[in-house]
Amino acid sequence: MSKILVVSGHPRLNQSLANKTILEALKEKGADFTLLRLDEEGFAPQVEKDQALLKDADIIVFQFPIFWYSYPSLMKHWVEEVFAHGFAYGTGGTALKGKKFQISFTTGSPASAYRTGGPNGHPMEDFLYNFQQIAALCGMEYEEPIYTNGCAFIPGVSPESVKERVIRDCRAHGEKLAQRLEELAK
Ligand SMILES: Cc1cc2nc3c(=O)[nH]c(=O)nc-3n(C[C@H](O)[C@H](O)[C@H](O)COP(=O)(O)O)c2cc1C
Repeated sequence: MSKILVVSGHPRLNQSLANKTILEALKEKGADFTLLRLDEEGFAPQVEKDQALLKDADIIVFQFPIFWYSYPSLMKHWVEEVFAHGFAYGTGGTALKGKKFQISFTTGSPASAYRTGGPNGHPMEDFLYNFQQIAALCGMEYEEPIYTNGCAFIPGVSPESVKERVIRDCRAHGEKLAQRLEELAK
């Protein structure tokens, strides 16, 4: 049976609405996965333990909110430390080869902001080339990204209707991710 590792890159998952909802929906759908919470490791990743988790997995999921058009620095730092030369790439670095790589993320901006000439200047896909290249360098299979736009909810500032919509959209996201993982695990 395929093993799934979900790496959560949210720096404060307890305070999250969108990413937490996605992970809860994924669990409720019965997905069988190991969750690695990077907010519990902070900026001092347990490199050997995390490399063992990656090595053991057939499917690797990166779950994160978009921060500054990329993934959170916590997750970037983790990749820098854990996807090391001789492990993930370079001479003898074949530990991730053949694994399936699924990115799953949320944005604050609405979908309409991600277009040429729009507030974010580029379509969403333009911001994702680095993940595609990480997969290529490490010999992983890059799967079609799953993402939900318009997830910014600020408690006490945003109307409750925004919270309800984000929860609804992120539950649907979690269900879609569960379905995708089921297909990838076949
Ligand atoms: C430091 C920071 C940077 C952000 N940068 C972006 C960005 O570049 N593009 C965007 O669409 N949203 C951006 N956002 C909004 C987050 O993506 C959004 O709040 C998040 O996806 C909601 O997920 P959560 O409820 O799990 O925290 C940013 C938020 C923070 C806190």
